[in-house]
This record gives sequence, structure tokens and C-alpha cells, in this order.
Amino acid sequence: MADSIIETNGLTKIYSRWLGYSKIHAVEKLDLAVRAGCTFGFLGPNGAGKTTTIKMLLGLIRPTSGNGKILGYPLGDQAAKAQIGFLPEEPAFGRHLKAKEFLNLCARLSHVPKDIRAQRVEEVLKTTGLADRANHRLGEFSKGMVQRIGIAQTMLHDPELLILDEPMTGLDPAGRREIKEIIQGLASKGKTVFFSSHILSDVEELCDYVGILNRGRLILTGQLGELLGGAGMEVTAENVPAALLEKVEPHVTGMQKSGNQWTFQVVNAAISDKIKNILADAGGSNIQANRVQQKLEGLFMKTIETDDNQARKESGNG
Ligand SMILES: Nc1ncnc2c1ncn2[C@@H]1O[C@H](COP(=O)(O)OP(=O)(O)O)[C@@H](O)[C@H]1O
Ligand SMILES: [Mg+2]
Repeated sequence: MADSIIETNGLTKIYSRWLGYSKIHAVEKLDLAVRAGCTFGFLGPNGAGKTTTIKMLLGLIRPTSGNGKILGYPLGDQAAKAQIGFLPEEPAFGRHLKAKEFLNLCARLSHVPKDIRAQRVEEVLKTTGLADRANHRLGEFSKGMVQRIGIAQTMLHDPELLILDEPMTGLDPAGRREIKEIIQGLASKGKTVFFSSHILSDVEELCDYVGILNRGRLILTGQLGELLGGAGMEVTAENVPAALLEKVEPHVTGMQKSGNQWTFQVVNAAISDKIKNILADAGGSNIQANRVQQKLEGLFMKTIETDDNQARKESGNG
């Protein structure tokens, strides 16, 4: 059973304004668990508390109460940072810097050893589709390219965990597609990707786990496929070694054996690609994936609506 790479217990942030006369409960008693190697979509409307949570996970702000662990370290521990890549919300980088110069600077700041720095910069430029822009100034970059170099920057020190705050927000469909492909690439390499979004379809396409935040509280969390009632995709394969099942288990919502053939239920194409890679590497044969229709939108809207109605009732009574 894989361990949690992110875990929080009763994590709470209350912002005080007007010398404490006005209080904003940005995040309330958050219990979050993110398993290593999974893609976790942190979903919620604007103002739900996603960025505040991410800042607490990274130790950029202190929780009012509660605590948590990231990569086994207490929140705020500097040691965890070496294994985390972070894309802030709406990043803005020095406009006069060339892409390559900027990434070199980031690589130095993330302590990438000098002898492999140039090579790492080349690699991440390539992975994010920016190789031909290496000598362009960031001021000339489109919003989509800024997001891509923002993700490139998170990958320089090859961290196990990537935390991306609204990586697809504000991009046109082509830009969103490019970012999704980069995230899928990271996921298929076994990296843990934790990203926030208010766009459902992004989460639906990419994630194996999801948490829905509304007004600072986690109102629904779990494996996407379970939340959706098991819909998603199916991967079938033959000659699957028994030892592999443990590796596949965290990513699937169900598995059955019939004769020599295994069938795995997964939530989306990104996860089925990951499973297909794992199976192929281990010598599985006749590997196939098929799509099953799913709908997160109805579930999301219903959950948020019920929660908002409940809050209205409570404030009406109180
Ligand atoms: N530094 C701050 N001071 C006071 N209130 C804040 C601060 N940052 C965020 N908030 C408030 O906390 C709530 C959650 O914000 P945020 O975490 O940015 O939400 P999200 O990222 O989900 O859109 C909002 O009501 C926001 O106005
Ligand atoms: Mg935010």
C-alpha cells in the first residue's frame, strides 16, 4: 500500500483584517491525503481556498491551526523543498530574460549541480515544447508559453512531487491541451502531480484522485472513478505477472481476472496510459484500452449546490 506524499490534519487558515475585527475562514479543518505516484485534482470555485492550502503545504504561510506532512516532512520544513516543484498562480517572470537564461537561474536556485545544469535546461525546454524559443525573451512569450516555462522551471531538479496552482487557467484550448500533455507526461513517469483547477474537464481528463473544496472545506474527496460510480476506461492485458498487481493497484478502481486475461478499470486516458506502460514494461501482452463515458460535472455542481444551500440555511437560522 503506497504512503501519502501529502497529508494534512485539521489544517486551518483564518486571515485577520481590520486588526482582527474581520476574519476570513479561508481553509477550515482540511484533512487531505494524496498518494505517491498519483495525479490529484484540487477542485473548487474561485475563493474556495485552493491557493491558501497550497501556500500552507509549501510552508509559504503558516496555518492558524492544524498540521500536515509533505514527503514525510512537517509543513514548512526546508528539506522537503528539494523534492518539490512549484508553479505559482499567474506566474510573472523577468520579461527581459531569455528563456534559457531564466531556466539557468532557476536551476541555480534549485541547486541543480553545475555540471548537469545546461543539460537539464535543454531537457525541460524540450519536454515543454520550448526548445526553439530558448533564446527568446520572456517578454515576447504568450500566456501559454509563460505557463509552459513555469512548468519547465518546476521540473529542473527532477522532483518527485509537482504542485501546480491553476496551470490551465486563462489559456485557450490549444494552450490547455499543451499543459495537459505535459502533466500527462509527468504522470506517466510516475511523478506525483497535485494541481488546482476550477475547470472540471481538466480534472476529469487527467486525475486519478480528486478533492472538491468549497468555502474552505473539503466537501468531497476520493478516487475519481469511485466518485463517478466506476465509469472511466478499461485496460485489458494478458500474461500479467502477479507481482505487478501491487504496483497497478493504487491507480485502478477495480480489477478482475478471466482465464489468462486481466481487466483493469481506470478513470481516464492519462491513467490508462500509465497502466499500459507499466504492463508493457513487465511483459504483459495484448494490451488494450477502451473508453467508458463519465460525467464529473453533474456530481461537482450537485455537491457545491447542496453545500451552498446548507450554508445559506445555517446562516439564515443563525
Ligand atoms: N492574504 C490574504 N488576506 C486576506 N484574505 C485572503 C488572503 N488571501 C486569500 N484570502 C481570502 O481567502 C479566501 C480563499 O482564497 P484563495 O485561497 O486565494 O482561493 P482560491 O485559490 O480557491 O481561489 C478568499 O476569500 C480570499 O479572498
Ligand atoms: Mg487560487
